[in-house]
Amino acid sequence: MTVEDDGTGMDRRTLVKVQDPFFTSKNFKKVGLGIPLLKATAQSCRGNFRISSRVGHGTKVRARLQKSHVDCPPLGDLRETLLSLLVGFDRINIRFAYQSEKGEFALASEEIRGQVGDLHFSHPEIQRFLKGYIHEGLARVLVPLA
Ligand SMILES: Nc1ncnc2c1ncn2[C@@H]1O[C@H](COP(=O)(O)OP(=O)(O)OP(=O)(O)O)[C@@H](O)[C@H]1O
Ligand SMILES: [Mg+2]
Repeated sequence: MTVEDDGTGMDRRTLVKVQDPFFTSKNFKKVGLGIPLLKATAQSCRGNFRISSRVGHGTKVRARLQKSHVDCPPLGDLRETLLSLLVGFDRINIRFAYQSEKGEFALASEEIRGQVGDLHFSHPEIQRFLKGYIHEGLARVLVPLA
């Protein structure tokens, strides 16, 4: 998986610290587990982890792993996670793409916004539409583990 953003980016020193579980810039907690946990998971499932960043430009995180590995945790509910991201961060442009041997499902919040006009993504009708669209699209391409 790759997660790429065009946010604040990080300098070299921060990029090293970010892989430490006791580094976070969130002032309501003392640990920052997102990056270290992803790295540890990838490395314990025959995979690898890479992070690169440029101040003022953004960050790219890539993790590869063997999904069938005995130490690989369940993927979780990808459909609900994506829905929460879209609805909860309505002003952020999110592009999502999932590829498998069954094909690809991709969506871009900018395009959906163009279709729904001024309505917030949390509007019940828009949410229902998004939910159906995501469930249908991912059902086409998700591959259950053997
Ligand atoms: N994409 C990013 N762009 C800029 N800064 C980042 C990015 N990802 C992580 N950071 C910085 O690294 C810190 C640690 O990141 P990490 O994801 O490990 O933990 P967290 O986000 O602080 O907490 P958690 O993921 O446990 O909720 C963040 O608090 C932030 O300062
Ligand atoms: Mg995090």
